[in-house]
Amino acid sequence: MEDDQTSRAARAARPVDTYGRPMRDLRISVMDRCNFRCPYCMPDATYHEGFRFLGPKERLNFDEIERVARMAAELGVTKIRLTGGEPLLRPGLPDLVRRLSALPGIEDVALTTNGVLLPRFAPALRQAGLLRVTVSLDSLDPVIFARMSGGRGSLPAVLEGIDAACAAGFEGGVKINTVVQRGVNDMDVPDILAHFRHTGVTVRLIEYMDVGNRNGWDRADVVPSGELRARIAALWPLEALPPRYHGEVARRYRYVDGAGEIGFVSSVSAPFCGACARARLSSDGKLYTCLFATTGTDLRTLLRGRASDAEADRQLRAALSRIWRHRTDRYSEERTRQPAFLVSGEKASRQEKIEMHYIGG
Ligand code: GTP
Ligand code: 5AD
Ligand code: SF4
Ligand code: SF4
Repeated sequence: MEDDQTSRAARAARPVDTYGRPMRDLRISVMDRCNFRCPYCMPDATYHEGFRFLGPKERLNFDEIERVARMAAELGVTKIRLTGGEPLLRPGLPDLVRRLSALPGIEDVALTTNGVLLPRFAPALRQAGLLRVTVSLDSLDPVIFARMSGGRGSLPAVLEGIDAACAAGFEGGVKINTVVQRGVNDMDVPDILAHFRHTGVTVRLIEYMDVGNRNGWDRADVVPSGELRARIAALWPLEALPPRYHGEVARRYRYVDGAGEIGFVSSVSAPFCGACARARLSSDGKLYTCLFATTGTDLRTLLRGRASDAEADRQLRAALSRIWRHRTDRYSEERTRQPAFLVSGEKASRQEKIEMHYIGG
């Protein structure tokens, strides 16, 4: 009876935002650095030797991350995704995975990585309770791969990383994220799909987004998912699949010949803000309620304050709840509705946005 009351009280305390959306996913960036320089995310011109990344003390430590995640779970979060920059550059990541997987209410811990460090870490991550891995891979052509990783990435190393993830046997499987840019890698998509057909690895084709302020985004570089899907279906007929959960980011399709499944992330041509339940925690401890947010709320000061553990928990829970209840974000939907947005040649909005490597996409 008391348990019933406790869980009713907890449910009642779960915040929804101004559009009635709950907080379900927490995406945690554990590292602002990356060993790649993908021009659409961390262009070399900005992220050179002299760029000032966060110092180790500026990043949340594992106790602080765990604390935010625990409070978020009390408020309704069930899924956690670890991102970067490159999350595997963060020392001891399997330990964090173990701690987050053990939190009451957390059902799913996943990782998005560029893959090169997976041969070293995949078995330990799997053992620690990581359920799913997504590897970013934009081309199988070594020249285009090199261009799209800013000359820093090694294609064989990424492919080895993908093999290592498959061999580790993650329960929720392995996915590939491919950001598609017209005239840059759209012609490589069939090769990527051919490579992963019949392997059980799901490729997701992502429309190039106007995240951040530094990648020189242009509407003309986006290949709308509808166009890409028609091109793919001419090679291998596709059939739509139902979403796996309400508000799923990718639209799923299966090859009619049974070779597996692919997904389309169409945030430019078909935004999915309506069901967006994602909160994002940056490596320096700011909470963002949208991928395109201009500002975040500093939680680090609160986490490092002098309050007792119980009082700090209470303050953190109250802060998360308040931020979420005030949430009004639906950037992609608003942006797509602007008439100029659909016109080729439209440039990225001038609104200052958080850079991708601080919140991991
Ligand atoms: P699952 O559905 O749980 O597998 O995860 P996911 O689709 O969220 O995975 P992932 O982090 O790999 O995201 C895939 C792509 O979708 C990335 O390019 C993200 O930047 C983009 N994306 C994820 N969430 C959002 C979002 O809330 N808004 C927008 N606009 N893009 C998103
Ligand atoms: N548009 C779309 N996807 C992007 N990603 C990074 N920058 C962009 C962008 N401008 C993707 C990465 C990674 C995921 C987290 O976000 O490729 O797979
Ligand atoms: Fe690094 Fe991923 Fe950004 Fe590329 S997209 S620079 S791999 S964080
Ligand atoms: Fe969510 Fe913002 Fe992406 Fe819309 S644009 S789906 S509100 S993160």
